Parts: sequence; C-alpha cells; structure tokens
Amino acid sequence: MKSFQTERWAVDKTENTLENHPHIIQASLWINENEVVAIPTETVYGLAGNARSDDAIKRIFEAKGRPSDNPLIVHISDLSQLKGLVSSVSDTAKKLMTAFWPGPLTIVLPKGENVSERVTAGLSTVAVRMPDHEIALAVISASGVPLAAPSANLSGKPSPTSAQHVYEDLKGRIPGIVDGGSTGVGVESTVVECTGDLVTILRPGGITLEELEKVAGSGQVVVDPGLENEKQAPKSPGMKYTHYAPDAPFVLVDGSVEFLQRLVDQEREAGKRIGILTTEERADVYKADCVIPAGNRSNPESVAQHLYEALRAFNEAGVDQIFGEVFPKTGVGVAIMNRLEKSAGGNIIKE
Ligand code: TXA
Ligand code: MG
Repeated sequence: MKSFQTERWAVDKTENTLENHPHIIQASLWINENEVVAIPTETVYGLAGNARSDDAIKRIFEAKGRPSDNPLIVHISDLSQLKGLVSSVSDTAKKLMTAFWPGPLTIVLPKGENVSERVTAGLSTVAVRMPDHEIALAVISASGVPLAAPSANLSGKPSPTSAQHVYEDLKGRIPGIVDGGSTGVGVESTVVECTGDLVTILRPGGITLEELEKVAGSGQVVVDPGLENEKQAPKSPGMKYTHYAPDAPFVLVDGSVEFLQRLVDQEREAGKRIGILTTEERADVYKADCVIPAGNRSNPESVAQHLYEALRAFNEAGVDQIFGEVFPKTGVGVAIMNRLEKSAGGNIIKE
C-alpha cells in the first residue's frame, strides 16, 4: 500500500458553486487518478473512489482493511447516473427514490454492466444512494463518475462523524480528507432491498421503518429476519461482522440507574477504570472514571448524532471496561440499538 501525507481540505458547505471550489477539484483529481479520498455525507464520512475502477475499489478495501466479501455502496449525485449502474428499478424503488433521495436511504438493486465486480463482492445486486450533503454531491459531480464509498473508518472501528475521526484512522493511508465539519445524522443510511412491492430492511439507519411504510404502504416493509435471529445469516454481508467497537470491552446494561451504578462500583473496587455511556440527562448522576453522554435521551436523533463520537472518546480516556445504557427500539432507536449491540458484541446484562 502506498503511503501519503494525508491533507485536510476544509470546505464550507454553504458556499456557492462548490463544484469549482479548489479543494473539491483537488479531491476529484485524485479520484480521477483512481486514488481514494474521504468526504463528508449527511450520515458519516465516506471513503470515496471511482465505482467503475477496479484499482480504486482495491485501494478502498486496502485503506480500510475491509474484508473483500463485504460489498460497497455506490453514491450518485443525479438519477441519470443509474444508467449502467443498475439493470432495472422497480416501481416501489422509484417511489422510495422520489421520497427519500437525496437522503440516508440505500437501495439494493439488480446490478448493471458498468460497475466494478469488486464493488458488489460478486453479488448480482448493487447498493445505491444519493447523499443529502452539498459537498458529497459536489465531489461526485466534479469527478463525473458514481463513487463507491464505505464509511471512512478502519474496519471494525466506530464510523467517523468528523474529519478528525477519519484522520485518526486513515492518516498516511489516503491522500486527503475533505473536511466539511461534523455530519448530521450520525448513524449510517438505512439499507433496503426492494423486490416487487415488498421493502426489506437489511440494515436499520437514518430512515425509520415508519417513514418507509408511509411511502411503500403499511405492511409492505419487513425487517430481514437475519438481523435478529442468530441462526440465520443476515442478507447484507456487512451485518455479520463485529463493528463499531471501542478499544475496551463494552457491555450494555438493561436496568435501572442504581443497577448500572452497582456494576460499576464492583469493578472499580477491583481496581478497574470504568467508563459509562449515557445521555446528558444522567451524566451527573453516575460515578465512574469517565462518564460520556451521547446526546439527549428525550431526543433520539441527537443520540444517533453523537453516538460514534462518544464511543471513540472512551479510547482517549483509556478505560478498562465500558458499561452502556440501552434505548427503546422505536424510530431511530432501532438503528442506535443495532449499532450498540454490535459494538458490545451482543453482551447485555439484564437487571
Ligand atoms: O451512510 C452510509 O451508508 C455510509 C455513507 C458513507 O454513505 N456508508 C456506509 O457504507 O455505511 P459501509 O460500507 O460501511 O456499509 C455498507 C453496508 C454493508 O453492511 C454492506 O454489506 C451493505 O451495505 N451492502 C452493500 N452492497 C450490498 C448488496 N448488494 N446487498 C446487500 N447489502 C449490501
Ligand atoms: Mg461501515
């Protein structure tokens, strides 16, 4: 793998004519040389490369240390780029595009002839989304090709929601990061498969089941049984990997504040440094070596927005063990709990 002096290219997304911004041009020049650069999206930062180039895709996998059987999402800035990328679009998929694009919804469609085999990891389908972020859209347009982009973290780490997170993980491994500030949604896009009228959620994310039902019709949206049932493989290859893990062991606690505090006290008496993942409402209630709030419990969107940043903060604090609170599995809470359960490797203690 080549080594780079990773540059940070600051761009203000409210500027006009972003496509002509020198830093956007710079990013697109690297992309046109089939190198890969990190770009902000509305969900998390992505590591972007030319979706038609085997070399670019190889570099994405190398820079992240990603298993090659895990396919990538292709990002477009204009519906005309679907040509050659997908071979057909069902009526329901069209409805979803109209309702949610640009936005945090990825749609898995039959693959077209003009997409690198490496993007789809040999599958007959390709995952596509149009991000709702001015900078991401400008980089795609300036590059003139659809961009394959996984989250711009090292494989297994929490996804990056700031340019600094990307820098921590990929410094020296990529030529540059387009720095557009913190991302908004904070968790990744919802990935759906759409065969006929039925919409199957393969990965919960920024768009909720309830929002999808409003467009696809009630009863028309189901969740991949492989997400909840350990005996069944998830349909989305990425969902089987350990993910989003902080350095220290992480356990979720489904119980009262007092119960969680007792667990912490026991471990601290044994000489361990303990971290607690909570929300702003309870940040002053707990006693531990490091208490980190992720947003506000009364506003689940704010929890999603700050979740990965909080998980990363424990690494700096250098704790031996982390305990985290659970959240109701409704709305964006489904995505929050999916990520938390993955970062805890499924470890939950019930009161
Ligand atoms: O919000 C997002 O989706 C971010 C930003 C950068 O766009 N991207 C992202 O990419 O989260 P990544 O690579 O970290 O996750 C992509 C997920 C993986 O779980 C992968 O297995 C799944 O999408 N996926 C990709 N292509 C697929 C396909 N053809 N069929 C089923 N699942 C697919
Ligand atoms: Mg990822």
